[in-house]
Amino acid sequence: MKIIKTVEDFKKIRSELGEKSLGFVPTMGGLHNGHLSLIKRAISENDVSAVSVYLNPTQFNDKKDLETYPANFADDCALLEKAGVDYLFAPTYPVMYPDDYKYMLTEKDFSHELCGAKRPGHFDGVLTVVMKLFNIVRPTRAYFGEKDYQQYKLLDGMVKAFFLDVQLVPCPIVREENGLAISSRNRKLSAEGLAKAPKFHEILASGGSEAEIAEKLEKAGFKVDYVTIKDKRLYAAVFLEDVRLIDNVER
Ligand code: PAJ
Repeated sequence: MKIIKTVEDFKKIRSELGEKSLGFVPTMGGLHNGHLSLIKRAISENDVSAVSVYLNPTQFNDKKDLETYPANFADDCALLEKAGVDYLFAPTYPVMYPDDYKYMLTEKDFSHELCGAKRPGHFDGVLTVVMKLFNIVRPTRAYFGEKDYQQYKLLDGMVKAFFLDVQLVPCPIVREENGLAISSRNRKLSAEGLAKAPKFHEILASGGSEAEIAEKLEKAGFKVDYVTIKDKRLYAAVFLEDVRLIDNVER
């Protein structure tokens, strides 16, 4: 696996690849089996594969969340190497933001709902960094998890709005056997929290109105951030031991 740290180097490699199809998986590191499912698809469906590991500060509205984000670059490299990834793009802030985030991409509607309503500026940061990554990597296909379904929908809208030549591939949520959606943030939970966390998905899957589900979650010890049904999907975010967990199920 080749590790690339600058825009110039990646662009050079991309132009040398010519017409070859490139499957791309953008991540923030702290890689786990959820990421790995996207990576395996990117490898199997394209001539070459690229993963980015970049903990993007502009999408964090909560400084503590950014500072405590579980990431280990050496572990990530080992996992990617073992999976058979061809290129790892691992930039720094000055590389990604030579403008110091004076320029940003904003969506004016859905990005202000659900997670966007609770995390102001979050989706501006996501859309901006993914647009930058797409311009550097020029992927044929880019893989995103349905765990962050609102993120996927907003990126899909961005691709259409700006006529980008990339095919977005939504990938199913990978869960633990107990139903808990795998997330880097699960690592922040104590043993007790981890034992309680699967109840989150169990309750979301149990049916009922938004208010009924919110009540069940509170009774089970979660602090509800939001529970919203929209376009035949139930979206929810909760806090457990100060760790923010999100999940969604089809309705
Ligand atoms: P990150 O949280 O690292 O997630 C990278 C990708 O992995 C996202 O598309 C996410 O939906 C997917 N993913 C995470 N957990 C998953 C699971 N349990 N099952 C399936 N897919 C899962 O999402 C981001 O990073 C960032 O916002 C990013 C797009 C990289 C922009 O900074």
